[in-house]
Amino acid sequence: MANCLVTGAAGFIGSHLAEALVHAGHNVFGIDALTDFYDPALKRRNLLRLQEFPNFAFRESAVEGLDCEDFPSEDSYIFHLAGQPGVRDSWGRRFADCVANNLIATHFLLERLRGKRPVRLILASSSSVYGFRANGSECRMHESDPLAPLSPYAATKAAAEHLCFAYATEFGIPTTILRFFSVYGSRQRPDMLVQRLLTAAVTRGPVTVYGTLNQRRDFTHVSDVVRACIAAMSIGGTVSVLNVGSGLPVQLADCIREVESAIGKSVPLSFEGRHAGDPRDTCADISAAHALLGYSPQVSFVSGIREQCHWFLNFST
Ligand code: UGA
Repeated sequence: MANCLVTGAAGFIGSHLAEALVHAGHNVFGIDALTDFYDPALKRRNLLRLQEFPNFAFRESAVEGLDCEDFPSEDSYIFHLAGQPGVRDSWGRRFADCVANNLIATHFLLERLRGKRPVRLILASSSSVYGFRANGSECRMHESDPLAPLSPYAATKAAAEHLCFAYATEFGIPTTILRFFSVYGSRQRPDMLVQRLLTAAVTRGPVTVYGTLNQRRDFTHVSDVVRACIAAMSIGGTVSVLNVGSGLPVQLADCIREVESAIGKSVPLSFEGRHAGDPRDTCADISAAHALLGYSPQVSFVSGIREQCHWFLNFST
């Protein structure tokens, strides 16, 4: 059984990953700074089930609060999921949080791992690093495409990837970079689209649609993302970068319809222009993850939305 450090363990994806790891019998040490980007009470609730496991330990801490002895020993794994999320909110003053939590924190981990035991670092990156797509260019995003971030958030995610490449190449730190595509499912952050739609259906909203209902997102269920993270534990080699998406992009119009059908209520909408920082469409090429990890998404969009709706109605308050 492996020793795993999960940063951001109280978050949406981090708490699901930590649960899957403890269920598989691994020893998990989770940290989370419980920042107030959204209500920290929601993050504390994400930890409730985890705290029943003897093979789970938690400390409220920023990444920079880790001591040398907190790093797992040989043949172990660091899942670095802590960070400042939010594509559209990252302009202006929020950029400092993105730099601190996405870039400086990653640098801290890499410095601690330099010249140390072979601990594999698995970095949560983002589809937003692809950013701008010239008109007429192929929609499907491939790992070898040039990075063209459109937001300060995406720029810090791309920079964190570059740092990982530098440390992996120069110091041999085994690293896997996973680019997550619009993750949804139970415990989704309140600022994200599906959670906003579910909330608005109950409170009578409205939800502001940025851009058009035709824009597409490669929505990926959190359980598929967790499967990819765990499969990444068995990768060899020094550094690899892999898309973790569904490969089946959905138009916003269809997403809204699916949420309305799951909750049995309509969602009031208002419309604004495209938000600065938003890529128009995302669409993952997942062939590399399939080849290297055996990754193949298991959750259809319809059943994933129903899972999130069920959680929202029964467990989210
Ligand atoms: C999400 C995460 O928030 C990022 O942290 C992550 O890096 C990113 O996925 C990614 O895939 O890289 P986003 O795709 O913007 O970002 O996810 P949502 O907030 O769920 O938005 C999905 C779509 O709905 C976007 O096109 C957005 O413009 C739209 N949207 C969202 C609205 O029209 N209105 C809203 O109130 C929220």
